Amino acid sequence: MTKKFNPRFEDKIFNEKIKDIDLIMPPEIYRSEGLSFWVDKRTIFDEYFIVDKDTTKKVSNIHGKTLTSVVRPPDYKNISNFIQQSSSGEYINQQMPKELYEFIFPPRVWMSNNINEITNMYNVAKIAKGNVLAGGLGLGIYPQYIFALDRPVESITIVDNDKDIVDVIGKILLDNFKDKKIKIVYDTIENFMQNTTEKFDTVYLDTWGDLNFKFLFYINYLISMADKITSENGIIGAWGYKHMYENFLDIVSQLDDHKDAWEHFYTTKNEVIIKYIEERKQRPEMTKKEYMEFANDMILNTIDPTPIELTMLLSNNTNLNKKFFY
Ligand SMILES: C[S@@+](CC[C@H](N)C(=O)[O-])C[C@H]1O[C@@H](n2cnc3c(N)ncnc32)[C@H](O)[C@@H]1O
Repeated sequence: MTKKFNPRFEDKIFNEKIKDIDLIMPPEIYRSEGLSFWVDKRTIFDEYFIVDKDTTKKVSNIHGKTLTSVVRPPDYKNISNFIQQSSSGEYINQQMPKELYEFIFPPRVWMSNNINEITNMYNVAKIAKGNVLAGGLGLGIYPQYIFALDRPVESITIVDNDKDIVDVIGKILLDNFKDKKIKIVYDTIENFMQNTTEKFDTVYLDTWGDLNFKFLFYINYLISMADKITSENGIIGAWGYKHMYENFLDIVSQLDDHKDAWEHFYTTKNEVIIKYIEERKQRPEMTKKEYMEFANDMILNTIDPTPIELTMLLSNNTNLNKKFFY
């Protein structure tokens, strides 16, 4: 693992000041407008900041806050993967009507300016410097915090592979920060990092939709690409890495007491935990200290460039307005 990346970087430090920084958010966008995403807006007074898996902190907005949520439908081209993964193993015809797809895989919030998201962005923006590369654009929160914090930044290049995000959110950002050196590129971050001849002082990677440690081998690949295009004293950030990394180590520390659960992990197709279990089986003599070190080394240093869908799509923790459904 490159020294430019700190896997233990804490991006969940709450600070009351974060609430007071105004962010420019897109207007409400209806599904009927035909974009790849829609925008839901509602006023909220209380939010819950997730401190750790057992603790939340209530954050109140006395005058109300407009919660902006970007919602999108399931990614139809990837549905078949989930069907293959279903534990019952049944095959569902991919030509099924959209209404039925959406019943199984409902629209979900893709990104928002909720207190957890903005706290992550604020903390990574706090260390941005020089020429910055960000992948992707999302709601453009990260660059806005860089400007609000007056970071010593010369330019920001933002790469996003969603044309509508680039057109709509990119335009809002460019229109509102005309005095800043911002370049928005419509491309995948993978392609961009592969082909660019530029060097950056900060690379911030935030292109996955969930914090699942099964993504880590691929994220390590993205970090290894970022390493090649960052200056000698450059820094690399990756959204939620610490959370996924610690979650993996936490599971590993419990695994030996639950050997009966090992087979279950094979059905989840979580390559990270399967690789660990396979290796662990080969080395039955390892002490706890040894296997924790082994797991740590494996999770930080395994790089897998196999393209994977970095979104689980299955969760539906939203309370969406009916207008988003068929
Ligand atoms: C969670 S958002 C990023 C939020 C952002 N950090 C902010 O400040 O609002 C993820 C973004 O990454 C984009 N994306 C997903 N996969 C990508 C890829 N392979 N290359 C470039 N952009 C990608 C999505 O279109 C989406 O806009």
